[in-house]
Amino acid sequence: MALDTKRPNDLSAFWMPFTANRQFKQAPRMLVAAEGMHYTSGDGRQILDGTAGLWCCNAGHKRPKIMEAIRQQTEELDYAPAFQMGHPKAFELATRVADIAPDGMDNVFFCNSGSEAVDTALKIALAYHRTRGEGSRTRLIGRERGYHGVGFGGISVGGIVNNRRHFGTLLAGVDHLPATHLPQNAHTKGQPEHGADLADELEKIVALHGAETIAAVIVEPVAGSTGVILPPKGYLEKLRAITKKHGILLIFDEVITGFGRLGAPFAAQFFGVTPDMITCAKGLTNGVIPMGAVLTTPEIHDAFMAGPPHMIELFHGYTYSGSPMASAAGLGTLDTYAEEGLLTRAAEIGPYWEEALHSLAGARHVIDIRNLGLIGAIELEPIAGEPTKRAFSAFLKAFEKGIMIRTTGDIIAMSPPLIITKDQIDQLIGTLAEVLAEID
Ligand SMILES: Cc1ncc(COP(=O)(O)O)c(C=O)c1O
Repeated sequence: MALDTKRPNDLSAFWMPFTANRQFKQAPRMLVAAEGMHYTSGDGRQILDGTAGLWCCNAGHKRPKIMEAIRQQTEELDYAPAFQMGHPKAFELATRVADIAPDGMDNVFFCNSGSEAVDTALKIALAYHRTRGEGSRTRLIGRERGYHGVGFGGISVGGIVNNRRHFGTLLAGVDHLPATHLPQNAHTKGQPEHGADLADELEKIVALHGAETIAAVIVEPVAGSTGVILPPKGYLEKLRAITKKHGILLIFDEVITGFGRLGAPFAAQFFGVTPDMITCAKGLTNGVIPMGAVLTTPEIHDAFMAGPPHMIELFHGYTYSGSPMASAAGLGTLDTYAEEGLLTRAAEIGPYWEEALHSLAGARHVIDIRNLGLIGAIELEPIAGEPTKRAFSAFLKAFEKGIMIRTTGDIIAMSPPLIITKDQIDQLIGTLAEVLAEID
């Protein structure tokens, strides 16, 4: 039967994610092509990508090694069952990821997204304790304003109110640390000075519930989706010390910080703090094919490798865990990162980015600027009674002027591809200055 093509220009069927659907469909912002640092819009304009897509195209767009890896894979093996069967590229990719991961993170469990990586890590944490005879450790601790995707596990430990409050009772037994955003850190370049003590709140949670009931703490080393909140100096070190002291697993959600965003392969290496598990996705395949992963220590992995060898050790997995196409994309991505030195490039260009970003300090509406690696955020004074409207106007105006930024609340967040040049940073920040001068 022929496809129904009676409604070729109808936008109504696609219910768009995290989008103001009605606004979009009245004035659609279509992207039809991409290459390097640029998107092409539906009306044929070049749009400078200030957000690496959605924090995922770390090597920029349409990179030849990645495209070629996928093309070759289509000719070799389209799909292989993920359970009780294997294919070589998933093993190769796991080894390559472990090679660039912090020392001691040797095992890799594949999934298809950041949300799945988070739910996978939380489940592994619970099952790990149970396997070791500590089944009372069932509580999970997240952080206010944290974003860990949209699964029930992720929104339970997450702390972005709109992502939680419409969806019922969520997981039981979850508590939250306070966010690390403090007014006295406004306009700090890089990691803020104040707030390491906020990690001590974990001691209060432990005292309240008992360490023997807590399985894991999950935090983003740098919180992204909430509008970029940085860890104060010493904060992550403290979290590590307290979790270790109480036998609680520490999970770093590195879905945005993984793969070079801060100038090291993972934020754990950048901060010199090694958690027990790392979740990642996005930059793992440069955003080209969906893929996520959980990295664990052998201590966690090996705890499961007991019992009769014919028995499945972890009752968890996805049809597309380590799929051939995603694995090929991942290998092409890691090759690209390695050949172009992209996993450390943010460390080189970071100081230029920092200065450019903070040059906007005196611009209209700006109340705070935050940065680390190739991440930047500009917080705007909200319009009284109309939160989010000012930043959304900035986003629309920016797109009109040929740059792509992201906004959340009244915060503009940027995370350009790691290939960005100094001239392109100037263009991005220069255009943003115009935008801020023009919006209400
Ligand atoms: C820290 C973090 N965790 C999890 C996710 C969810 O990833 P996905 O949208 O691939 O499910 C995101 C997405 O932005 C993220 O930033």
